[in-house]
Amino acid sequence: NRKPVIAIDGYSSTGKSSISKIIAKKLGLIHLDTGALYRGITYFALQNCLRDDKSVDTDALFSCLEKLNLEFKEVDGNLELYLNGKDISKEIRTPEVSDYVSFIAKQPEVRGFLLQTQRSIAANGGIIMDGRDIGTTILPDADYKFFLTASVDERTRRRHRELTEMGEITDELSVKENLIKRDKIDSEREISPLKQAADAILIDNTLINKEQTIALILSYIKPF
Ligand code: C5P
Repeated sequence: NRKPVIAIDGYSSTGKSSISKIIAKKLGLIHLDTGALYRGITYFALQNCLRDDKSVDTDALFSCLEKLNLEFKEVDGNLELYLNGKDISKEIRTPEVSDYVSFIAKQPEVRGFLLQTQRSIAANGGIIMDGRDIGTTILPDADYKFFLTASVDERTRRRHRELTEMGEITDELSVKENLIKRDKIDSEREISPLKQAADAILIDNTLINKEQTIALILSYIKPF
């Protein structure tokens, strides 16, 4: 039987990526964290494409992005992101990247560029992709679509814990402000905004943990 295509979208810090990674392993699927793509572009732009005062010149941004070479390497079912040959999985999680990413992600050129990249990765099926617009725009014909949400306070706690474990020093208030800001920009942008697809299953995991969320998602997946 053909392996399924699964789309997982939702708000920031609802656990989309870590949940998708575990489900991919259990079901023998490839996992792609599409947020990492936007973060990778942002990381590159911050280093190479900003004016001295750190403001963004959008015209310069797009010609600057031509020098960008994002690649994936499959590590244990996971597609890990490499920028010009270097593993940048840690660098793309810093608060600085989080602060800029939604601004970069709302640029039509950036979304257009990544649309084909994401579709071609999914072309052979057997994949779980997590992001903001997978079920609505990237893979509208996915076999299964889920939309994750949780209260802002719970998401703030999770994200703060994750950053602390990574050795980043942040306070809960700035983490919360970043989440709210990103959700707002992501939901209000013109092109492929963050939105639950009409045929997506809504999961609010404020009161359930990661394992319970995974079990709930798996309960919908038919054997293949
Ligand atoms: O998933 P993560 O929080 O790492 O995503 C970072 C940012 O990338 C989001 O806040 C959003 O601006 C952008 N993004 C997007 N579309 C996706 C995935 C992420 O616009 N499919």
